[in-house]
Amino acid sequence: MLTEALLRPRDLSGSEHYHPVHRAPPGVPSGRCYGWVGYREATDSRCRGREGPLARRALITGITGQDGSYLAEHLLSLGYDVWGLVRGQSNPRVPRVRDLLADVKLVRGDLLDQGSLIAAVERAQPDEVYNLAAISYVPMSWQQAELTGEVTGLGVLRVLEAIRVCSGISASRTPGRGQIRFYQASSSEMFGQVRESPQTEATSFHPRSPYGVAKVYGHFLTQNYRESYGMYAVSGILFNHESPRRGSEFVTRKVSLGVAKAKLGLERQLRLGNLSASRDWGFAGDYVRAMQLMLAQDEPADFVIGTGITHTVQSLVERAFEVAGLDWQDHVVCDAAFIRPAEVDQLCADASKARQRLGWEPLTGFDELVTMMVESDLKLLSGNGGYQDGSFGHDVW
Ligand code: NAP
Ligand code: GDD
Repeated sequence: MLTEALLRPRDLSGSEHYHPVHRAPPGVPSGRCYGWVGYREATDSRCRGREGPLARRALITGITGQDGSYLAEHLLSLGYDVWGLVRGQSNPRVPRVRDLLADVKLVRGDLLDQGSLIAAVERAQPDEVYNLAAISYVPMSWQQAELTGEVTGLGVLRVLEAIRVCSGISASRTPGRGQIRFYQASSSEMFGQVRESPQTEATSFHPRSPYGVAKVYGHFLTQNYRESYGMYAVSGILFNHESPRRGSEFVTRKVSLGVAKAKLGLERQLRLGNLSASRDWGFAGDYVRAMQLMLAQDEPADFVIGTGITHTVQSLVERAFEVAGLDWQDHVVCDAAFIRPAEVDQLCADASKARQRLGWEPLTGFDELVTMMVESDLKLLSGNGGYQDGSFGHDVW
């Protein structure tokens, strides 16, 4: 059923929304009109209607994923009207979104289909678009490199183009008051074989997987649309973030599920790949706060988001088994099938810029995160419903 808010006309491209301000963002040549207006100013202008304040409206691609669910919850708690893009005719993850996020409105679309994205932006008429959709599992990006390029890389272009076309932005027509703000989910995987440690917004990229390469494309394209068209388009360079909602193919969840299975006597062995890789692991619920803050600034900028503390996969494993009172060495087996063709050995964030300019801080530490995930999986696997593991098994390159 269409609600009143959905039926209310919201012009994205009409002249009333085209109020260029003569203030160029840093790094942009002067002499051209760039329509930066403050977030509060833009918000206030939308609040002057006779019907009272309008909620800001967000469209999230990747709503069925880990981050999509936490971001939607966070935005709903801030009073946003939240829309989510879902793909497929009968997407099996949609019922989970409906259970968890009953207030989110869903719209169909696919990052492979430009027309569907234009239609989704026209339908939702968002103030903010968060592009979280991607093929996000690094090993899969070697198996399906072309598809990863299409979704994780070119998908960013298609979302930006949908916003540009729906907003009537062109080389001669820059965005104005109330323009749609865009967030791109960039990744620490872009740093790859790191040139320095810890990594900042200024650290150069050396991606080590087709996924990382595709993310670099999306990252630079987002910067390019900001510089070419004056769009409020930013990237969050997020380091690994996890939760009980993490897909079971990623190492933290694979380990927390493995520990729960070992504890409950369901499986004895946990087969893993490289135990010496290091990651800067944080809690997804903390990281989505940073996404919203990035779109609430007066001027667009990219930010590194991470804890600044790094742990090896082995220390993750030790801690997770310890939570269940087990010795990891009785259960973990190293299996070459999980070793990648090229590895990212270590990642560690320097998120000083986010701390200073966004006031963002991670609130959940590593031990707390691992404990939360193991306890959640123990509860899940002890329950009557059981758990259907969606993981694929061995990765074949
Ligand atoms: P995730 O759980 O794997 O979710 C990926 C989402 O993308 C799913 O909702 C999936 O929908 C959607 N998707 C895939 N292909 C699509 C297509 N062709 N069209 C539309 N939607 C499509 O990932 P996540 O952990 O939430 O991460 C969110 C984003 O942040 C991703 O872009 C990821 O690369 C990036 N990132 C994640 C981390 C991290 O540690 N989690 C760190 C840095 C960056 P279906 O349910 O239909 O498959
Ligand atoms: N998945 C997995 N499975 N990883 C393993 C395993 C295993 O059995 N054994 C060891 N690892 C090591 C990997 O080799 C890697 O060094 C590390 O654990 C983390 O792997 P993942 O959890 O799969 O995450 P990722 O770092 O490759 O990628 C995640 O973080 C990126 C940000 O840096 C994903 O969420 C990406 O989408 C994200 O961009």
